[in-house]
Amino acid sequence: MDVFNKAIEKMGPLGQWASQVHGYFTFPKLEGDISNRMVFQGKERLVWSLNNYLGLANHPEVRKADADGAATYGLALPMGARMMSGQTDLHEQLEQELADYVGKESAYLLNYGYQGMVSVIDTLLDRKDVVVYDSEAHACIIDGLRMHLGKRYVYPHNNMESFRKQLERATNLSKETGGGILVITEGVFGMSGDLGKLDEIVAMKKDFNFRLLVDDAHGFGTMGPTGAGVGEHFGVQDGIDVYFGTFAKSMASIGAFVAAPKEIITYMMYNMRSQIYAKSLPMPLVVGALKRLELVRNHPELRDKLWIIANALQQGLKERGFNIGNTQSPVTPVFLNGDTAEGANLSYDLRENFNIFCSVVTYPVVPKGVIILRIIPTAVHTLEDVSYTLDAFSKIKDKLDKGIYATGKIVNVF
Ligand SMILES: Cc1ncc(COP(=O)(O)O)c(C=O)c1O
Repeated sequence: MDVFNKAIEKMGPLGQWASQVHGYFTFPKLEGDISNRMVFQGKERLVWSLNNYLGLANHPEVRKADADGAATYGLALPMGARMMSGQTDLHEQLEQELADYVGKESAYLLNYGYQGMVSVIDTLLDRKDVVVYDSEAHACIIDGLRMHLGKRYVYPHNNMESFRKQLERATNLSKETGGGILVITEGVFGMSGDLGKLDEIVAMKKDFNFRLLVDDAHGFGTMGPTGAGVGEHFGVQDGIDVYFGTFAKSMASIGAFVAAPKEIITYMMYNMRSQIYAKSLPMPLVVGALKRLELVRNHPELRDKLWIIANALQQGLKERGFNIGNTQSPVTPVFLNGDTAEGANLSYDLRENFNIFCSVVTYPVVPKGVIILRIIPTAVHTLEDVSYTLDAFSKIKDKLDKGIYATGKIVNVF
């Protein structure tokens, strides 16, 4: 048997559609400056699918900092891993500023959010430890847990009754193993937009002994009075023991960080495999992140604008009878009923006839019969964009209800 056979015989749950959708629904090319309007297949579209929450991607000060960083340092510097030859003052400065912003003692930079989170989990746990985590945790949390040699308990998404039960089981088991308990959840769940119940989880620290790790990828910069995340939003930031944020969303860059008490960060610096065995974050990304963080901290009007757009969009959708689930963040899912073909055909109509580009999610990513249009508002959208989109959504919903997209096959996008 050839290991390559699987690529020929079964392309996987998503890959099976590749020949029909590649380049249009999957791997589409959005061109031009990152903004509310970008070019897709030669035509300008209103784009609602980028996590550029605060509009920093194309902010003139950000563009200048990125260019200056590249001109001054190039991409090579620093060479080597942080521990060996990749340490700089600016890496340390960025870490301290990030730690201050999210109200933790120390922070450590990660090259990517995904691999960083995998490694954070791996570093925090040994085989005696027990994990309790939310069933809708992001792939990077699941993959971090794949490396865990000890026991884990999952609770149905945000179900606090089950959470308590799993904590009880974890407590009993940890007494046997002699390990500790790590609870892992997210600040904002990126697909549904609802929040991890951090207030209730932190309150359980009264009854149980555990540490809390929060992946706040979507909450960092967008949630809470100063943008310090979902912990700040709930007033429980201190109850988060290990805070994780990425630069890939509100900061519109690459890289991530973990923030925690100083001794935990020092422990990570000497034990986290993703950083010990990988080259340090390049200088232009560090310089660019410092500028972005300065804007995130000092320009609350960017966050205000994001929320004006998000609220108008969510309010408008609700008024028109759309089901947007239980979002409490800018992430705006629109839940519709239909099969994969209807989802694709509807999305094609939105793109080609309304010039609206947003992400569509259908089976097998979500259960059969569910279509999710996922809209990400940003500070560079306008209220006109919102009202245009609301009208368009009403029209496509009408067509969906009339069965117009139910052709039984995916539209030929080529
Ligand atoms: C909840 C969550 N965690 C982690 C990540 C990974 O971050 P990055 O894109 O920096 O690798 C993402 C990004 O999709 C995310 O949504």
